[in-house]
Amino acid sequence: MIITESKRKVLVLTGGGDCPGLNAVIRGIVKRSRREKDWAVYGSIEAFNGVLKDPLEVLKLSNKNTAGIHVKGGTILKTTNKGNPFEWPIRNESGEVSQEDRSDQLINKIEELNFEAVINIGGDGSQRISQKLFEKGMNIIGVPKTIDNDVSSTDYTFGFNTAVQIASDSLDKLVTTAESHHRVMIMEVMGRDAGWIALHSAVAGGADVCLIPEIPYDIKKVVHKINKRIIKGKGFVNIVVAEGAKPLDGKVVSSASNEVGYEHERLGGIAFQLSAQLKAAGCKADIRETVLGHTQRGGTPTAYDRVLASMFGVKAFEMVLDKEYGKMVAIKGNKIITVTLKDAIGEYNYIDGQDYLVSTARGLGISFGD
Ligand code: F6P
Repeated sequence: MIITESKRKVLVLTGGGDCPGLNAVIRGIVKRSRREKDWAVYGSIEAFNGVLKDPLEVLKLSNKNTAGIHVKGGTILKTTNKGNPFEWPIRNESGEVSQEDRSDQLINKIEELNFEAVINIGGDGSQRISQKLFEKGMNIIGVPKTIDNDVSSTDYTFGFNTAVQIASDSLDKLVTTAESHHRVMIMEVMGRDAGWIALHSAVAGGADVCLIPEIPYDIKKVVHKINKRIIKGKGFVNIVVAEGAKPLDGKVVSSASNEVGYEHERLGGIAFQLSAQLKAAGCKADIRETVLGHTQRGGTPTAYDRVLASMFGVKAFEMVLDKEYGKMVAIKGNKIITVTLKDAIGEYNYIDGQDYLVSTARGLGISFGD
């Protein structure tokens, strides 16, 4: 593709795992840009891959091709979590994998194409890349996204509310079947090292036990809570467990990925480990396990996420107009603000044991197994 645009140009991309609301951000950027006469918006397909590819995979974004996309899940620009330009994976003919730093090539390409600014919509990993590119001179702005809500400097990331809604709806369904069979139901949710999805859905859905990475659980205490409920209480138990939860002195359940360029350990499987631990610790009730997995990231974003994503999109374009480079849009106390990327990536957003929602959960009788 050859870009012959005479207008000033901004490049938008989505990186890392997808998340409901990405399309609403893209639409917000495009719609806001249309209020300025001299700007055009382009999208790089599959994070920075589109710019680095030959032929180029870059799409001009217009009112026409972004109309109505705010209600759609996924991202019209596609995404990848294997495209770090600083550690670009290459496989040689004998199948060995090595890494190449393509950041200079990327910066040169973006300059050559006359993009005045870049908006990187992505989670923690993507914003670390944004900061490194900013340090190398790129005019870059970050928009935080992730269902995990683990980005600090912002109260919420879009996608989180949708994931919580999906998890809560699923818990509602598990409650009725748990009740009919006098069973213990374990529902495993995503969230990596943060328990936000688990905590919110446990409170929303009325779980009896909520196990999160920030509070390692004592299996004996979980069994005690189950026995109390089964024998003297309602006769059934609903447990929400975060994929990153772990027992006291135990480890997170994860597996290495053999996907080239994938930088994370894959979490998942704690529901089955917990089930086995409960039986070994003397739990007599029947147990069933449900792993929600990627259903939490799919489908239509909730109204809240569409609103938050639209606010982030409009603001991100205004940050381009104001040349607020090296910064990320965020929401704090119901206000849309900007924070430096450096501050944004400085800290991980864990649940503090003193958080108001932890005490709310304890007040409702939810056990953290501690
Ligand atoms: O970060 C979002 C997230 O959905 C995590 O909650 C989960 O552990 C991970 O991504 C799954 O990644 P993938 O889609 O690569 O399997």
